[in-house]
Amino acid sequence: MILHEAEADLRGWQVEVLGIDLSQAAITTAMRAVYSQFDVQRGLPIRTLLKNFQKEDDNWRLSEVIRTRVSFKAWNLLDDLFPLGRFDVVLCRNVLPYFDMPTKFATLQKLSRVMADDAVLYAGVEEPLAGVSSNFQAMDDNLGIHIVQRPDLGKIKSLAAAG
Ligand SMILES: C[S@@+](CC[C@H](N)C(=O)[O-])C[C@H]1O[C@@H](n2cnc3c(N)ncnc32)[C@H](O)[C@@H]1O
Repeated sequence: MILHEAEADLRGWQVEVLGIDLSQAAITTAMRAVYSQFDVQRGLPIRTLLKNFQKEDDNWRLSEVIRTRVSFKAWNLLDDLFPLGRFDVVLCRNVLPYFDMPTKFATLQKLSRVMADDAVLYAGVEEPLAGVSSNFQAMDDNLGIHIVQRPDLGKIKSLAAAG
């Protein structure tokens, strides 16, 4: 919805949005894009709701134009992420807290490797990454925004150059 509103500023860009989840049920729900009154009341501005959703009985259905801009895949974050592509923005909220520390670290390393050099990761606001992975630097803790950095890859590159 935000990208749709910013269309004029994004002229010339090819914008692709991919949603992944381990659970096929979660993917099916996301593709259906029908939300309860409770769901749409959790932070969605009323203007955005009325502009992008149609009321359907007690629920709200996201408009076709927004739904068709997003593609979905059932995918495990612990698997190889390279087949998914390369990303400028990654939103991963409320997922890492369920992982143990080694799994959090491995997931962040994998994510950082499929992100563009100036890409950003949005984690939840109460999900600090400091002390978990040095491949992300907090930009704004209040918004959970982290910029990618890859000291480990830098080391590999310089070793390769030296060798
Ligand atoms: C608490 S929900 C958060 C969903 C959403 N990000 C949000 O903030 O509302 C956690 C989601 O992570 C998914 N998940 C858990 N482990 C995963 C993994 N290894 N790979 C991909 N998705 C996973 C779960 O299926 C679930 O849908």
